Formats: sequence, structure tokens, C-alpha cells
Amino acid sequence: MNRTTWWLGSIGVLSLVVIACLVAFVIPGSCITCSDQPSNTGCFRAAVLDHVHQSSRNGGGTKENIKLNLKLYETAAKTAKEQGADIIVFPENGIVYGIGSRANALKYGEVLPESKTSMCTDSYASSHPIAYQLACLAKEHQMFVAADMIDVQTCQTKSCPIDKKYAFNTAVLFDRNGYLLGKYHKMHPFGELQFNVPPKDELVVIETEIGRLSMQVCFDLIYNKPGVVLASQDKIDTMLFPTWWFDELPFLAASQYQMSWAFGNKINLLASNIHLVAVGSKGSGIFAGGHGQFEVISEPDAKARILVATLPINARSDAQCSMDSKKIEVPQMVPIPSNVIYNYQMMNLTENTVKKLDPSMEAISACDGGVCCQLNYQMDQSSIKSDEEYYLIVTNRTRPGAYPWTEEYCGLVLCPHMTKLDTCKQISSNNPLQTKFLYAKLSGEFSSETHVYPSVIGSEHKVLPKDGGLWTYEDEKTDVGAKKQKFFITFGNKEERKSYTISTIGLYGRVYARDPPYEQKPLGESIPL
Ligand SMILES: *[C@@H]1O[C@H](CO)[C@@H](O)[C@H](O)[C@H]1NC(C)=O
Ligand SMILES: *[C@@H]1O[C@H](CO)[C@@H](O)[C@H](O)[C@H]1NC(C)=O
Repeated sequence: MNRTTWWLGSIGVLSLVVIACLVAFVIPGSCITCSDQPSNTGCFRAAVLDHVHQSSRNGGGTKENIKLNLKLYETAAKTAKEQGADIIVFPENGIVYGIGSRANALKYGEVLPESKTSMCTDSYASSHPIAYQLACLAKEHQMFVAADMIDVQTCQTKSCPIDKKYAFNTAVLFDRNGYLLGKYHKMHPFGELQFNVPPKDELVVIETEIGRLSMQVCFDLIYNKPGVVLASQDKIDTMLFPTWWFDELPFLAASQYQMSWAFGNKINLLASNIHLVAVGSKGSGIFAGGHGQFEVISEPDAKARILVATLPINARSDAQCSMDSKKIEVPQMVPIPSNVIYNYQMMNLTENTVKKLDPSMEAISACDGGVCCQLNYQMDQSSIKSDEEYYLIVTNRTRPGAYPWTEEYCGLVLCPHMTKLDTCKQISSNNPLQTKFLYAKLSGEFSSETHVYPSVIGSEHKVLPKDGGLWTYEDEKTDVGAKKQKFFITFGNKEERKSYTISTIGLYGRVYARDPPYEQKPLGESIPL
């Protein structure tokens, strides 16, 4: 997304290389509360951390920061365990961050083992301080632990980096006994020139007592691999997702896109994000995509929190798991300033067809490059605020920027304060909205190869829940073999006469099959990675 630009997947016919396909064995006697072992109910309990970086104020540098962040992880894990969590997921760059250089990537990286290895043992304490502490956290709390760190490997092929090493941005998973079960090397670094793109696809599937798990990191969520490919082949139940996301409106804010990704792919997603709203980073969540349920943390404040919730082990089973969610603040050793403004980025609307809604009308439609969208709506006439304008935006394009990708979408978007301009220049708003809709139905016609991600966002960027019937999402494959497919979001209920504020209704389509190949590139502007 521009400054936020991340990266691709050459699709089509693919060789699916399962790089790490490890099996976690449940060791007898390893569970604390055997009577509610997750498999008995078909449900498990997960925790994610919405993390505030802890930075040393006394010039301690990266080494000191690592200690401080791991300390916060410890408190988070302990609290999660008290809430009955079977797994906790930590964010991308949550331990080591802001390092920039290749030398630092190698310095703070660890040579991680290739196969299942017990890492909470003395022999790893000094050689692998980060992996050791994560493993011991898992063992101490008898909980699966997923986190992001740096894996360094020697490289001996012809196409090696000049220093004959690989440094990967890496998600790791430890089991309840502190064994490293698997690792995943981020396939789509977002800039991050200190890290390498892995030479092969990383399609990780790890079978555990809490389902078939996989991992992907941040910018990977935009691309076909690994998550979409694994989900579409029904190889996984739950995607573990450490991220440091930079929100882009109207479609790609963290909580919004995590929700729509989980719904669109009908799997579970456990997303742990960095919380730094000044740069547009907020939004972690637990999503039961196959069941249309979720809980998020998406507050525009300066607090670290964990979210704990229960979800089905088998993402597409009909197991009924009441989410029973809890959000708990995690104390910070080095708090960040609390009076901050949420600074999101805006999507570039080039090559969009953009049409303004007339509040007194009830229908609008537009096409762009063969993508056709229709919105039927009813606004609450007494609530209309003149500087809250709404637009229908439509595209069929490969978006511009350092990391181009192909999209087809239909969106109802809010563009405030632009009464003198005849197009949308500002997208969405941090202010509470006043204009209300009684009803809206957005329909879109896309290519048959497009993956569509639905979302409805209310005032103050809140993702609106789908369960409870506030909105529904359907697809209509009228004639099989047709070149197009149709999707609908219906919001509100004409009969009920209740009205709601909305900032976005989105049918965001990704056309992985028409993506240009991913190439790691510097970003236009610097972000604090
Ligand atoms: C979008 O454009 C591409 C060509 O660039 C075309 O193949 C595709 O069919 C278009 N999408 C729709 C829904 O017509
Ligand atoms: C949007 O993209 C177009 C095409 O690449 C570019 O010319 C324009 O400057 C961009 N606009 C913004 C606001 O970045």
C-alpha cells in the first residue's frame, strides 16, 4: 500500500513444496487439564497479543529492547494461560525491530534447526537466546507459542546472497514442551532489504491436537501463497499470522482485511499485530472464518492487550464453540505516549471509476474494465451531514506502487469534507460519523478467478460483526462455467427501520492469477521496520 506496500504469487500451475511438514506428537502426561483437552470439545482456546514495542530509554539499544519485549511476552503468556489458552501468537518484529542493516539481521538472527527440536535446554541458552526463551515460555505454560524472529542459514548454491548467508524474517512455532515444531520464512518481504526472499515456496502444514496449523507473515496476506493456496486445497484449519501492518483505507485496514481474509478463505486466522496507531498499526484478532465469527482488538490508544477466544479445531466443521472472548491489558515497562492520532494511509484511486451517491436516490451503478457494481440503498434523511459524502468506487486494475498487484473491487466509501471537489480525495475519517443508512445492498460482478473479500466498516473504523445478522455475504454462481461470478453484501433490514453509520462496504477482489511476479524492492518512503 504505497508506503505500506508489501508483495505476490506467481500462480497458475504450482509446485507445492511442503517445506516443513512436521507432526506434533501429543506426549502423554503433557497436559495440565486433561479433562478439557481441546479435542474432546472440538474447540480450542487461542490468544493473540496486540503488542506495544518496549524500547529502552537509557540507550540500551537492541539488546536491551529484546529483553524488555520478551518480558512483556512473558506477562502476556502467563495471562493467556490463566484464561485457558492452548496457544498464543506474538507479532512480527515484536522482539527484534528497527534494525535496518544486514549486519544487524545476521547479528540478531539465530541458526534455527530444520527439524523438530527441544529448545528449552541449556545447550541453546546462550547460542539461541530468543528461541530458547520462546521455547521455555511454551514449556513453562504448557502452551503452543508462535512468534516472529530471524533465522540465519548458510547458503551454498550459485544464486546465494554475496555474504553466502540467508537471513529470513521467520515465524516459529513451539509446542507445549518447548519443541520447535516448524518455521516459516516470509515469502513476501515488504521492502526489508536486510532479509532474503526464501528460494522455494514455504507451504508449512503442522498437524497438532489443535488442528492443522500454518504460518504466514504480514505482507503475505496480500498474496496467493502460502495462505490462500493452502486454504483452497483444504490443507489447513488455522493460519497463525504474526504481522506489523500499516493500515490502508478503505479496504486494507488490519482488522478489516484479517476478517475478510478469514471469511473469504473460510478458515481460522490468529492475527497478532504491532500496536502503534501513529503509523497506522493497530488491529489484532481471532477469526473463525468458516463460522462467520470473530473478535478483534482495534483501539486507537496506546495500550498492549491480549485477546483470548475459543474457536473450532476443524475450521469447517459444525462444532459450536462459543467464542467467550476476553481482552486484558498487558502492563508495559516503557509505556508509549497516549495522546496519539491514528494515521492511516489512503489507497491510490487512480484507474478507478468513482461515482458520488445522491442521498435522495436509492440506487447507483458503475462499471470499470468489465467489473460491474450496483448499490441499492436507503439513507436516513434526517441524519444526513453534508460533508459526509459517499461514493461508489469500482476498478479492474493492477495497482501502482513499488509492489503492484491486481485487484477487482466494488466499494461504498465515505469521503468527507470534499464538497467542492467532484471526486474522492480523502477516504474515511477518524471522527464519529452521523449519516446513517437504513439499508444497503452492494453487488459486484467479477472474473471467475477473482477471490473476493467482504467487509462492512462502521464509524471510527469499527469492523461490524456478521453474526447477529447485521450483514450477510453471498455469492451467486448462476451459470456454471460462466466467465463471471457475482457477490452480494446485504446490510441492515428494510423492515426493521433501524439505521446505522457506515464508512465502508467492500467487496475487495484479489486476482492472484493476474499478479505481476513479486520482486523485493525498496519502499518509496521509509517505515520504521
Ligand atoms: C478485467 O480485465 C482483464 C484484462 O485486463 C480481463 O481479462 C477481465 O475479464 C476483466 N474483468 C472482468 C470482470 O471483466
Ligand atoms: C497514484 O498513482 C498514479 C499512477 O502511478 C501516480 O501518478 C499518482 O501520483 C499516485 N497518486 C498518489 C496520491 O500517490
